[in-house]
Amino acid sequence: MFADLSPADQAKYVAAKRAVELVEDGMKLGLGTGSTAAWMVRCLADRVKTEGLRIQGVPTSTRTADLARELGLDVVSLDQAGNLDITIDGTDEFDRALNLIKGGGGALLQEKIVASASDRMIVIADFDKQVPHLGKFPLPVEVLGFGLASSREHIARLLADHGLVDRDITMRMQGDAPFVTDEGNFILDLHLEQIPDAPALAIALNQVPGVVENGLFINICDRVILGASDGRIEEHVRS
Ligand code: 5RP
Repeated sequence: MFADLSPADQAKYVAAKRAVELVEDGMKLGLGTGSTAAWMVRCLADRVKTEGLRIQGVPTSTRTADLARELGLDVVSLDQAGNLDITIDGTDEFDRALNLIKGGGGALLQEKIVASASDRMIVIADFDKQVPHLGKFPLPVEVLGFGLASSREHIARLLADHGLVDRDITMRMQGDAPFVTDEGNFILDLHLEQIPDAPALAIALNQVPGVVENGLFINICDRVILGASDGRIEEHVRS
């Protein structure tokens, strides 16, 4: 099966498989969203089937919930599960401090809530996701539909205060219509190139009244597992 995958999927599979090896019987898990996280769900389902592993999974999107159910995993809500042992999720970028930009798949809100309810967050990724500074990947910000133009203005002023003048802010689209999140909100993508102070920006963005959540995950991720198509694995642990 491995040989039939594209190099990109091989890298994702390698990272996902390693992360799933850390799962123990009886654990409650947060299940991330995206193409790498989908490999984690498949690897988990494989262990459930072959080893009889008993786990409960809290998905971070309807997409992940559908896949997990389809593969026979025990899917529960976060409120049913309570505190989680581990969340395993993908990322769009991570830096040396293991701070992340997430939300490329539009699931940042549930992803942050679920990761924050977990003892540990493990991120799985390929080597391209490692960056010296966050910000090359457009930063997703989930906003309410009410007063959207006003929130956007407010964000633009806030960015300027953080030394990020005249940066593009684009509405996330799906075909011809705005992308709508699982919670019924919209996403603004902030094209920042480089974020000088990610912790400060994460706090400031969430003070804009129309902002629901932003895609900066600061001090949430504990470990990053990187996979390569040649089977190489590298692990980074937050100090
Ligand atoms: C979804 C996410 C994803 O984890 C992120 O976009 C990475 O996705 P992929 O594994 O497909 O590259 O944050 O909201």
